Amino acid sequence: MEKVLTSLWGVENSHKLDVYKSHGGYEMAKQVLSDWDSPKLIEHVKATGLRGRGGAGFPTGLKWSFVPIDSEKPKYLCVNADESEPGTAKDRYVLERTPHLLIEGVLIAAKALKCHHAFIYCRGEFYDQLAIVRAAVEEAKAAGIVGKNALGTGYDIQVTVHSGFGAYICGEETGLIESLEGKKGQPRIKPPFPAVHGLYGCPTVVNNVETIAALPWLIKNGPEAYKKMGTEKSPGSKLMSISGHVERPGTYEIELGMPLKDFINETAGGIWKGRKLKACIPGGSSVPVLTAEEVEKVNLDYESCAANGTMLGSGGCIVMDETVDMVHMLRVLGHFYSHESCGQCTPCRRGTSWAHRTLCRIDDGEGKPEDVETLLHIANNMTGRTICPLADALAMPIKSFLTKFREEFDYKARTGKSLVQPGKAA
Ligand SMILES: Cc1cc2nc3c(=O)[nH]c(=O)nc-3n(C[C@H](O)[C@H](O)[C@H](O)COP(=O)(O)O)c2cc1C
Ligand code: SF4
Repeated sequence: MEKVLTSLWGVENSHKLDVYKSHGGYEMAKQVLSDWDSPKLIEHVKATGLRGRGGAGFPTGLKWSFVPIDSEKPKYLCVNADESEPGTAKDRYVLERTPHLLIEGVLIAAKALKCHHAFIYCRGEFYDQLAIVRAAVEEAKAAGIVGKNALGTGYDIQVTVHSGFGAYICGEETGLIESLEGKKGQPRIKPPFPAVHGLYGCPTVVNNVETIAALPWLIKNGPEAYKKMGTEKSPGSKLMSISGHVERPGTYEIELGMPLKDFINETAGGIWKGRKLKACIPGGSSVPVLTAEEVEKVNLDYESCAANGTMLGSGGCIVMDETVDMVHMLRVLGHFYSHESCGQCTPCRRGTSWAHRTLCRIDDGEGKPEDVETLLHIANNMTGRTICPLADALAMPIKSFLTKFREEFDYKARTGKSLVQPGKAA
């Protein structure tokens, strides 16, 4: 498979401008800034079928077409580099290994959106990546690639790198916009959508790092080449991270539609220590968990995941072997989401912490049999009742863990003991 995003991974100093340029870097941006207009670019990206890689898989060209391009207000592009979903470790590698690929993508997207000021919003904990991206933007500025008359094309584009402060919720697009405006990163009620009323009340597109970094390849190779990879509705390639109990955890570029079992067993070398697979969360911790039997049927594309009751999400695949205590695992997720709730909506603020406390009680052997039903009740009352989907991001795992591994929860709530001995294979 041709590499859309990772062809320079492994090349020495791939983060440096001269190395990037020696591999054809910025040629596509120069062409686009000189010769392409906004409608042509939007149509081109629509024709590729590229879908946003931040989690929802929304078609990128379609999203861009919602922006009132001819509005007199400034148009903004925000690159979402907040990457905080547990299990997801892909954008950080684009930032640290090929920051100029991202900047070239920014120039292309900016031209499509008639945008003259783009922001790269980086997760606060990305200390090293931030330094690398900042240095790359400075290099690009000094070389006349970014700034006034970018690449000598007459197009002006300013790029600002902004650091978050370690809040997961600033990855939600309107939380990110609020944070960029200097306020608390609390999601906004939608509508209005950012495409019409985003940063500083102006038309704004928020796109994930991986989405934007695919653009130079898409301009160079065109829609047909991209659609040769993947499936009809999920074309192209995707960065997938895989963590947990596999022999070769890591981040891989795969062709969409790859069987999940092949990703686990071949790409990642199979379950470690010769143990058996118990469960897998394919798309980042907020998506419903799959049992080992379900893993056999699922392909890594948006449709197959949905047909099997889960989501491809941000591509953060978490693999659990037979020794994992599912009660404890869900407790860990509950801790994360209750800590990260921004607190605006009662079902989320109270629901996530109540669920977490209940899980702690069961896991610590101090639960009551009725706690399991209480958990389901909490999850049902969190679903679809909040400003942003963070509440659902805990409700979905709760419901799927309880549906698929119910006996472990009932047993621990009743006896105070685990049905599995953590770390011990059957
Ligand atoms: C709680 C929450 C956290 C999110 N975190 C991220 C994130 O870290 N990175 C990201 O790109 N998208 C994240 N998203 C999705 C963004 O809101 C948005 O849909 C995405 O950045 C759009 O980019 P795309 O169209 O390229 O996928 C998050 C959404 C929610 C609800
Ligand atoms: S669902 Fe949670 S994180 Fe999202 S806006 Fe409401 S309180 Fe904040």
